Amino acid sequence: MGENLSKTVAQGRAFMNIIGGEQVEAKSGARMDVVAPSDGLAFGSIPASNEADVDAAVRSARHAYEQGEWGKMAAVDRGRILLRLSMLITENADELAALESRDTGKPIKQGIADIVGCARYFEFYGGAADKIHGDTIPIAGDFLALTLREPHGVVAGIIPWNYPAQILGRVAGAGLAMGNSLVLKPAEDACLSVIRIAELALDAGLPAGAFNVVCGTGKDAGAALSAHPDVDFVTFTGSPLTGTAIQQAAAINNRGVTMELGGKSPQIIFADADLDAALPLVVNAIIQNGGQTCSAGSRVLIEASIYDEFTKRLAEKFSKLVAGPHDADLDLGPLISKKQHALVQGFIDEATQSGTELLAQGTIAGNAPEGGYYCAPVLFGNVEANSSIAQKEVFGPVLAAFSFKDEDEAVMLANNTDFGLVAAIWTRDGARQMRMAKRVRAGQVFVNTYGAGGGIELPFGGFKKSGHGREKGFDGLFHMSATKTVVFKHN
Ligand code: NAI
Ligand code: MG
Repeated sequence: MGENLSKTVAQGRAFMNIIGGEQVEAKSGARMDVVAPSDGLAFGSIPASNEADVDAAVRSARHAYEQGEWGKMAAVDRGRILLRLSMLITENADELAALESRDTGKPIKQGIADIVGCARYFEFYGGAADKIHGDTIPIAGDFLALTLREPHGVVAGIIPWNYPAQILGRVAGAGLAMGNSLVLKPAEDACLSVIRIAELALDAGLPAGAFNVVCGTGKDAGAALSAHPDVDFVTFTGSPLTGTAIQQAAAINNRGVTMELGGKSPQIIFADADLDAALPLVVNAIIQNGGQTCSAGSRVLIEASIYDEFTKRLAEKFSKLVAGPHDADLDLGPLISKKQHALVQGFIDEATQSGTELLAQGTIAGNAPEGGYYCAPVLFGNVEANSSIAQKEVFGPVLAAFSFKDEDEAVMLANNTDFGLVAAIWTRDGARQMRMAKRVRAGQVFVNTYGAGGGIELPFGGFKKSGHGREKGFDGLFHMSATKTVVFKHN
C-alpha cells in the first residue's frame, strides 16, 4: 500500500478523521484510496482506522457529553447551531454536491438533491430541538408523575455509501438535536461529504467532540464501534447481514439499536390508476441512484388487464435510459464499486440464464470511461415469484414486473418477501386505497405517489427484515432519546 499511498496523496486531498474537533490521522498511519466509480481511479485517500481510533473517538464523544460544553448546552442553543450548520451546508452546496457526486458516482443533480436534503434535516431538527417535551401522568394518590426525554449519551452511527450526506443528516440531525454526542463511521466507499460536513459543523459552533467521524472498513472500524462498551446506542443503515452482526455486537453490552436494512418495495398498479402519472414515478423509483436506494421500487405489480399495456410503456422508457459518468448528469451514474457491480450483474445473469423475460434494457453512454462500474438498467417481465430478483435486494437498476388478477393476489405478492420498507398503491378507488394501505406490510405506504420529496418529516423504517426503530420526522428524534419517569410524593 505504501507506494500507492504516496501516489494517491499526491493526486488528491488526504482526508482526515474528525476526533475531538481536530483533523487526525489514523494512529497506525494506514490509509485507503478514495475511488471515483465513474472511472475507477483513486483521487484521494482516507484514514484506515481501527479499534484504537474508534476508542479515541468514543472517549472524545463521552467527554463532550459528560464534561464538555455540549452536555450542558440549552436545547435552544443546540438548535441554533444546527440551523447555522444547515445554512453553511446550503452555502457550500455546490462544493459538497460535486464531492458527493464524484465520490459515489451519482449524477450531479442527485448530488445536489442530497445536499439540499441534508441541509433540510438540520433545519428540521434544529427547529425541533427546543420543542421536545415529556408528559404529566395522572396516577392515583398524592403524586405528581411526569416524564423527561433524555438523550442516550454517546450514539454510534454506522452508515452506508448510497446516500452519505442524507443519512448523515437524519442521524446527526436527530442525534444532536436531542443532545447526544456522536461517533459516525461512514462507509469506506463514501466518506468525503461526511468529513466535510463534520468540519462545517465545527464552523457552525458545534463544540469539539460532539460529532466525531472515523473512517475505515466495517471489519476494522465498524465492528469495534458497534461493540464498544462505552457506546450507549447504535444506529445502522445497510444490509441485513451486517445489521445482524452489529446487533450481536451491541448485544454484548445490551445496548439499544435502530436498524434500517433495505427493502424489496412494490409499486402496485391497478387498472383504474392514472397510468400517465404512475409511469415516470415507477421508472424513477428504480433508476434513482442507480437503484442503490433502500426504498427503491424494485418490484412492479400490475393488474392483469393492463399488464401488457403498462409493461410496453415501461419498456419504451427503459430502452431510452442511459447510464454515464456522474458529471454527464444522465439518467443514472455508475454503481458504487466493482464489488457492487459484480453483485448486480450476477442477479441479471441468473435471471437471464433461467429464462426470465427481458423486456427492455437501457444503454451505457459511449463516452463512459472504461474503468467505471456501469450497469445498463433492465426490465424483466412475468418474473417468477420465488426467484432471486423477486426476493432479494438487488441494489441496482433492475425492475421486476409481475401481474396479479385481484386485490387479494396483489396483497399476497406485495407481502411475499422478507422485507417491508415501502410500498406504493396506484388506484383511483378511494376505498381500495384505504384497504390496501392497511393490508400492505411496509413502514411507509404511498398512494398515487412515491417518495414525496425525500420525506424528512415522515417517519421511516421497516417491518420484518427491513429492520426496526424509526428515523426521520419526530419518530427519529424519539429514537435518539430515552424516557425517564419521575414521581413526586406530596400530601
Ligand atoms: P454493509 O451493510 O456491509 O455496509 C454498510 C456499512 O456497514 C458500512 O459503513 C460498512 O463499513 C459497515 N460494516 C460492514 N461490516 C460491518 C461489521 N461487521 N460491523 C460493523 N460495521 C460493518 O453493505 P455493503 O457490503 O456495502 O453492501 C452490500 C449490500 O447491502 C448491498 O448490495 C445492498 O443490498 C445492501 N445495502 C443496503 C443499504 C440500505 O440503504 N439499506 C445501503 C448499503 C447496502
Ligand atoms: Mg468513492
